[in-house]
Amino acid sequence: MKDLKQEVALSLRQTIERVYPAAQGLPEDLSGLLEIPPEKKLGDYAFPCFKLSRSLRQAPPAIAQALQAAFDAPHLARAECAGGYLNFFLNRGNFAKSTLDAVLEAGARWGAGQEGAGKTVCLDYSSINIAKRFHIGHLSTTVLGNSLKKIFDFLGYKTVSINHLGDWGTQFGKMIAGYKHWGDRETIEKGGVEEMTKLYVRFNQEAEKDPALEEEGRAWFKKIEQGDEEALSIFRWFKDVTLKDAMRVYDILGVKFDSYAGESFYADKTGQVVEELEQKGLLIDSDGAKVVDLEEYGMPPCLILKSDGATLYHTRDLAAALYRKNTYDFDQCLYVVAYQQDLHFRQLFKVLELMGYDWAKTQMKHVAFGMVSYEGQALSTRKGVMIYLDELLQRAQEKALDIITEKSPNLENKEEIARQVGVGAVVYSTLQNGRIKDIDFRWDRALNFDGETGPYVQYTHARCCSVLRKAPDLTSIAPDYAALDNDECQQLLLLLSRFPETVRDAADKYEPSFITRAVTDLAKAYNKFYYEHRVLEESDPAGTLARLLLTRAVKNVIRTGLTLIGVEAPERM
Ligand code: ARG
Repeated sequence: MKDLKQEVALSLRQTIERVYPAAQGLPEDLSGLLEIPPEKKLGDYAFPCFKLSRSLRQAPPAIAQALQAAFDAPHLARAECAGGYLNFFLNRGNFAKSTLDAVLEAGARWGAGQEGAGKTVCLDYSSINIAKRFHIGHLSTTVLGNSLKKIFDFLGYKTVSINHLGDWGTQFGKMIAGYKHWGDRETIEKGGVEEMTKLYVRFNQEAEKDPALEEEGRAWFKKIEQGDEEALSIFRWFKDVTLKDAMRVYDILGVKFDSYAGESFYADKTGQVVEELEQKGLLIDSDGAKVVDLEEYGMPPCLILKSDGATLYHTRDLAAALYRKNTYDFDQCLYVVAYQQDLHFRQLFKVLELMGYDWAKTQMKHVAFGMVSYEGQALSTRKGVMIYLDELLQRAQEKALDIITEKSPNLENKEEIARQVGVGAVVYSTLQNGRIKDIDFRWDRALNFDGETGPYVQYTHARCCSVLRKAPDLTSIAPDYAALDNDECQQLLLLLSRFPETVRDAADKYEPSFITRAVTDLAKAYNKFYYEHRVLEESDPAGTLARLLLTRAVKNVIRTGLTLIGVEAPERM
């Protein structure tokens, strides 16, 4: 269904065609040109006449006046001129009915669509590294990717979520060597990744004193590469231990993957890539290593093989890209990875293009995000500047539980709701700002439950649920939409009607923060409405019914929005 804005845009277009049949260069859908006036008393939408003024050679105010005189859609809106602008004031009663009908009929699918039907999007996100504890450096990619997957699903795309595990490289040989010297199975089984990291640190310390260890580490990695039984079984066990820890975090966050094919998965597929690069004449020798020269494109060479024949991160990513194309036949392949890897991906896409894969130009996309620091310092395990995700989520849940126990001692399922609220706080704060913005992690902000936060939005949703629970049965009467003819309700209706557009913008720009913004605006507008109006008014059942329908619509859309960013919406808090 069209929203009110599109309806107004359509009528405006017809008006322009009537008044200025010669007008040129207008887009089919004018809604993109409709602005939101800075002040509400100027109307709900404004159409600037400046572009038309150039092609029509008339002053903008004259055009605005001519259009105003001819605009004739009273069921939608009234038009007024203000300088070079034509301002539209929506027809409230009608707008309320059509918006609420549409939102409530769509239910959980308000804003959903089928434009993605038949198209596949691969999303590479989270992509953690084996033998490293899951830390906040991987929080953004995890929640951004999870949200984007949900948004694309919602628009009818088929999505494939991929955790491209960092599970290949000489460090795993070193870890095995370290384990052989100083490790034991039980300690690692009990201590998890933390213990594995200790072994790796110890290995590096000892290797400084005894360089022969380096050779041992390399030898173990060679064994992994050659499929040696013992090496592989230790390596696989390291992986299991890491994934078991990570799974706990994914479970709490509600994050799932369709595939865990990581770097090691491509180890036996890189040979073919190297061969293809060779055949296409793209490989050149550089001090014994093999590289693709990218100087012409202003980039350093892309390393394909080291002088000892070992593959690199790029080599495996090339194999992965081709594998994904062949396996999933994607229309888009997204890499949700920090902007530090910008060069890596530009090189990757360029090499694919040089190999003759034109789709790399349009279908591959690095969805970059900002850097995470902790109280102004770059994250570093070595320097102890680090926050682990299990710890963060644990603390968030504990804090939520404290607050719930204090404020709603009789609530059932306190623990489960504390999980939803604690996670809500963390996820929301990660998706609150545009993704490219750097995040300086601060405990007080991540655990903040007041102001514009996840728990605040969740709380508003629970408030709507509570209002609806208290509502009398009004099924036998008709709603009086005139009861919604006030600024607070109209604001809510506008936000509801714009939600589908927001979802599309979020998908186009890969920006879940647009949806975070939308649910926050809705929550704020609902609370304003709630303080200024009585929803349940015994003497006015028809008006009450209209306010209840509005409440239900707000509840649905907040829930949908939260779901799309990966936050749950408890009915009671
Ligand atoms: N494991 C990498 C890291 O933690 C991210 C991998 C991203 N995906 C990819 N296909 N390169 O930095």
